[in-house]
Amino acid sequence: MSLFRGGRQIVTTLLVNNSIKRTLATSAKKDAKVCVLGAAGGIGQPLSLLLKNTPLVSHLALYDIAHTPGVAADLSHIETKAKVTGHMGPSELEAAVTGADIVLIPAGVPRKPGMTRDDLFNTNASIVANLADACAQFCPKTMLGIITNPVNSTVPIASEVFKNRGVYDPKRIFGITTLDIVRANTFIAEARGLDVSKVSVPVIGGHSGVTIIPLISQTTPPLSFPQEERERLSRRIQNAGTEVVEAKAGAGSATLSMAYAGARFTFSMLEALSGMEGKVECAFVRSDETEVKYFSTPLLLGPNGVEKNLGIGKLIEYEVELIKEALPELEANIKKGEDFVKNMK
Ligand SMILES: NC(=O)c1ccc[n+]([C@@H]2O[C@H](COP(=O)([O-])OP(=O)(O)OC[C@H]3O[C@@H](n4cnc5c(N)ncnc54)[C@H](O)[C@@H]3O)[C@@H](O)[C@H]2O)c1
Repeated sequence: MSLFRGGRQIVTTLLVNNSIKRTLATSAKKDAKVCVLGAAGGIGQPLSLLLKNTPLVSHLALYDIAHTPGVAADLSHIETKAKVTGHMGPSELEAAVTGADIVLIPAGVPRKPGMTRDDLFNTNASIVANLADACAQFCPKTMLGIITNPVNSTVPIASEVFKNRGVYDPKRIFGITTLDIVRANTFIAEARGLDVSKVSVPVIGGHSGVTIIPLISQTTPPLSFPQEERERLSRRIQNAGTEVVEAKAGAGSATLSMAYAGARFTFSMLEALSGMEGKVECAFVRSDETEVKYFSTPLLLGPNGVEKNLGIGKLIEYEVELIKEALPELEANIKKGEDFVKNMK
């Protein structure tokens, strides 16, 4: 079975006779280093497990301010190729990120019931700024995938930090919104009783509430919905993170589905880095598609990051309204991130 959509060349057979056996046919880069910053957290641990389970990674560097040695020792016993190194605390950050082809940042606090993603800003902004600054110094050419919320602000923060170090390349900094696409695929397939592996729904905009814009009219295969159902599904996709936060009742936000989504994005990026053509993922990047500076749309990935922005495509009127609803909030979130870096000491 193919573990991730789009990873056509990775043929994976899972859970055979209580062991994990894999048949692999891949032309991907053989020596990729992937670094996870926040690797001991709710997302960091399962994400690192999925990355350890792919032959696309040869070195998995795990960094956190706590518990990294245990997570690294645990994962290092798995009988797969990737060498695992654990790095704990700021003095070990340089070694963790140096030479990384991809750095993923899930470090920071998650939501509790009643909180918006923006409520996390005060804590997470400085965490992302500091980690991005280390990347700008020690692996300025890395592909940086930011998971830490509020993504609508943390991506501008990382971008400004890279600019301050004179190493900014907008094609290499991504806010990982893949979970919105994963959720949209699941909910739309369920609504029509379809095989979810054959359903693909672009989700554009940002990664919080009304800024999440599912383009159900562009679903593959084409599906038609009465307007009321389309609206209900769109709102569910926008609020799906809150469903998980409420169900976890104070114990955090989505971790397992986010780990899956983060791994899906990373595998696509690794394959693109290796020269595989046609890898497309949506992500929140510097963009000229709308009047706001950062916006998620489907992106063609390549060895240098964003190869081509595939744009918004044809919209129905309802989706135009969703974009109009999203832009003011996106603009405010982006400005908040940029101002934070301007005011940093
Ligand atoms: N992009 C998305 O779709 C998406 C989805 C779910 C959650 N998130 C976000 O991901 C983040 C992490 O969520 P979680 O559930 O894994 O949280 P968590 O609290 O379980 O884990 C966070 C980890 O970050 C570590 N950490 C804190 N400060 C650090 C620093 N300065 N350097 C390195 N590591 C540091 C902590 O020690 C902890 O291990 C949150 O901000 C959450 O909102 C994003």
